[in-house]
Amino acid sequence: MDINFHNASGGEWRADCSLAFIFEGERPVSPVLFEQAPWMEISPALRDAAGKKEEMTLLHGHPELSLPRVLVLGLGKKADASLQTLRLAVAKALQYCRTKGFQSVGLPVEGLLSLTEAYSAPLELLVKEVVLSALVGLYSCESYRGTGKKENSPEDPRRFTLLLSEKHTPDTIHRAAREGEAEAAGIVFARELINGPANHITPTVLAEKASELARTHTFSCTVLKPEQIRALGMGAFWAVAQGAKEEPRFIILEHCPKGKEQDAPLVFIGKGLTFDTGGISLKPAAKMHEMKGDMGGAAAVLGFFKALGALANADELPRVIGLIPTTENMPGGHATRPGDTVTTLSGQTVEILNTDAEGRLILCDAITYAQKEWKPAAIVDIATLTGACVIALGDLGAGVFTKDKELRRCVLDAAETTGELYWPLPLWDDYDANLKSDVADIANIGPREGGAIHAALFLQRFVEKNTRWMHLDIAGPGYVVKPTALSPVPGGTGTGVRIFCELARKLKVKNTA
Ligand code: BES
Ligand code: MN
Ligand code: ZN
Repeated sequence: MDINFHNASGGEWRADCSLAFIFEGERPVSPVLFEQAPWMEISPALRDAAGKKEEMTLLHGHPELSLPRVLVLGLGKKADASLQTLRLAVAKALQYCRTKGFQSVGLPVEGLLSLTEAYSAPLELLVKEVVLSALVGLYSCESYRGTGKKENSPEDPRRFTLLLSEKHTPDTIHRAAREGEAEAAGIVFARELINGPANHITPTVLAEKASELARTHTFSCTVLKPEQIRALGMGAFWAVAQGAKEEPRFIILEHCPKGKEQDAPLVFIGKGLTFDTGGISLKPAAKMHEMKGDMGGAAAVLGFFKALGALANADELPRVIGLIPTTENMPGGHATRPGDTVTTLSGQTVEILNTDAEGRLILCDAITYAQKEWKPAAIVDIATLTGACVIALGDLGAGVFTKDKELRRCVLDAAETTGELYWPLPLWDDYDANLKSDVADIANIGPREGGAIHAALFLQRFVEKNTRWMHLDIAGPGYVVKPTALSPVPGGTGTGVRIFCELARKLKVKNTA
């Protein structure tokens, strides 16, 4: 679906269906729309629009008019206005327009202007959120259908048009729409990778996607192959990869604006398990297919770079490096056995007591790699790391682990901006001793109780004293089973993409390496 603008000062707006908003017990908030579609006033259905949350009322004018239909979207009580309600309303509206076969959907920008007070948000932000919600709300995974394609997937509307009555669209509004479009592209890119089955989205394919992004947007990209991963001494990553026939990859993507070559980079690390069977510590069969989504962290990093490529002001952002260790975790004759010990890139040895605690094994070597290679301004890793985090925060909550107050505040602010549920969990030193191994420097699991914390404490062992570091556990929100309006199909959500965009924009990084 294309996003465009239509300026008609004194003239006529044109769209198969135009969107209007209404708060509970009030009149629709688009006065200009009433001027452009005066028939609304006498439309009988207008009386049915009570403004309740999630309510949609379709008004019909004469079919020959340039604005023949208006879809009135309820936003609930004005006093309880939250951006999330607006996002959901827009996403559902676009889904509805798709089922009706409308080709063009219009949105009067003046209608949004009337919402700025209720949402205490600038018009630009509303434009961005509305554009983004329209695009991500239409996402569904259709790449793997065959003969069933037609019946399963009605066509998206072709255009989402922002309607203005002034002659010119202000620059800031233009930029806001493009920003929403860019971040939506990142999210859709991530979702498509997560929903891609493991026989299609292999580590090799992830690496190809990364180099494709680099080619299109002039990022630099280096991909390490199995021999290099092994020769470098990534013994923990290798221990996970060695059981799989599919080859592992270690992806390094870099965005470095001119003049920032000497800056300390922000490093984003994403867990890239294209499939997690558990290895010899095999998972139960029920729901195992969901483990194609165990590369949700990697998808977030790649989706962030996709968004970065589409952002007009990417050069104003800091130098950012994305690291993705990616492999399958399979059982087999070459697989790591419970009780095996390996030497990590850091030199510390690990006793692998449970081969299903593999995410931390591939991440710890990536964390060490980042510190050996650069002096990172900060390292943020993102991973579908523990079932325990889902138990702690529920299926939509992401765990935030860091001792750095500024990083924590920045990520919580980001989540508030995007409407995602990120919440701090502790890195208690008292629990660190739970990772003691009888034979090696550290064991890869601790007690089940507090499992998300033990996983985070494991990673912390690989972070040097003066490195700023944060770990995000997205085991819950990375992949949803119950669809939501913004993720209308079950599967990958692309959480992390927007959070990384916000971090890159807001995090203060010092400009010296
Ligand atoms: N990928 C899983 C975590 C996971 C579980 C993600 C459910 C999404 C939904 C991870 O590799 C894993 O298996 N973790 C184990 C760790 C345990 C063996 C210490 C877990 O959470 O059970
Ligand atoms: Mn696992
Ligand atoms: Zn895993």
